Amino acid sequence: MRPAAMFALPLVLAMAGCGRLPGATAAAGTAPRPEEVMDFHALYSANCQACHGASGQNGPAMDLGNPEYQALVDDATLRKWISGGMPGTEMPAFAQSAGGMLTDAQIGAIIAGMRREWTKPNAFGGATPPPYAQDQAGDVTHGQQAYQARCASCHQGPSRQQVTSTAYLSLVSDQALRTIIIAGRPDIGQPDWRLQSGLASQPSAGNIGSPLSAQDVTDIVTYLGSLRNPAAVSAAPLPVSPRR
Ligand code: HEC
Ligand code: HEC
Repeated sequence: MRPAAMFALPLVLAMAGCGRLPGATAAAGTAPRPEEVMDFHALYSANCQACHGASGQNGPAMDLGNPEYQALVDDATLRKWISGGMPGTEMPAFAQSAGGMLTDAQIGAIIAGMRREWTKPNAFGGATPPPYAQDQAGDVTHGQQAYQARCASCHQGPSRQQVTSTAYLSLVSDQALRTIIIAGRPDIGQPDWRLQSGLASQPSAGNIGSPLSAQDVTDIVTYLGSLRNPAAVSAAPLPVSPRR
C-alpha cells in the first residue's frame, strides 16, 4: 500500500497542476519534497480545491470557506474527516496512516490555514446553531412533515437539487446533510438553519417560518436518511427470512 501510494504521488500532483506548487519557480534541485510542503495555499490547491473550490467556495463539494461552517466544527472533527475521509461521501482519506499522502503536520497546516483565512468573529451573529453532531434520536414522520413545510418549496422543479432522490442521497452521508442544513452553503444559495438565504440572487425563503430547531434538523436528516435505500424495503417482493 505504502510504496504504491508514494509512486502515485508525482502523477497526482502533476494532474493537479504543477504550476501552482511551490518549487515550480525555484531553481531545479531545490524544490521541496512533497511531504515537506507546509504552505496552506499549496496544500489546499493541490489536494482540496478540485472538490471544495478555490478559496473554499463554488466547488462541487461543500464550501469549507463558509465562516459559519468554520465556527460550527472543531479542530478534532476537521482532522478526523481530513485524515480518514468521510464515509458515505466522496471525501477521500488524506493521512498516510489511512493510505493517503499527507503527513499529520501537513493536515495540521491545512486546518490552521482554514482557521486563519476562513473564520470570522461572531459568524452566527449572536444566534446559537443546532449542535454539529446529532445528539438525539430522530423521527421520520415529523422529519417528512418538516421537509414538506420548510424545504420542499425551494426544492421543487427540475432545476433544483433533488435532495430526496436516491441518487443524490447515495453520495451524501447523514453528517454531511446535517452540516449543510445547519451551516448552509452560501456559495450556491442553500440557507443556513435559520432558512434565510441572504443572497439577493437566490429565491427568498418566503413564508417558511422561524429557524429550524435542533430536533427539526435531526428529524429532517433522519427522514432523508430513510430514503437513501428505499430499494432495500420496496424491491423485496419475496418474503425473506430476516436471518443475516
Ligand atoms: C474527491 C473530492 C474531494 C476532495 C479532493 C476533498 N474533499 Fe472534502 N469532501 C468531499 C465531499 C463530497 C464531502 C462531503 C460533503 C459534501 O457532500 O459536500 C467532503 C467533506 C469534507 C469535510 C467534512 C464536512 C463536514 O460535514 O463537516 C471536510 C472537513 C473536508 N471535506 C475537507 C477537505 C480538505 C481539507 C481536503 C483537502 C485536503 C478535501 N476535503 C478534499 C469531497 C472532497
Ligand atoms: C430559500 C430556498 C431554500 C430552502 C428553504 C432550502 N434550500 Fe436547499 N438549496 C437551495 C439552493 C438554491 C441550493 C443550491 C442547489 C440548487 O439549486 O438546488 C440548495 C441545495 C441544497 C442541498 C445540496 C447542497 C450540496 O452541497 O449539493 C441540500 C442537501 C439541501 N439544499 C437541503 C435542504 C434542506 C434539507 C432544506 C430544508 C431544511 C433546504 N435545503 C431548504 C435553496 C433552498
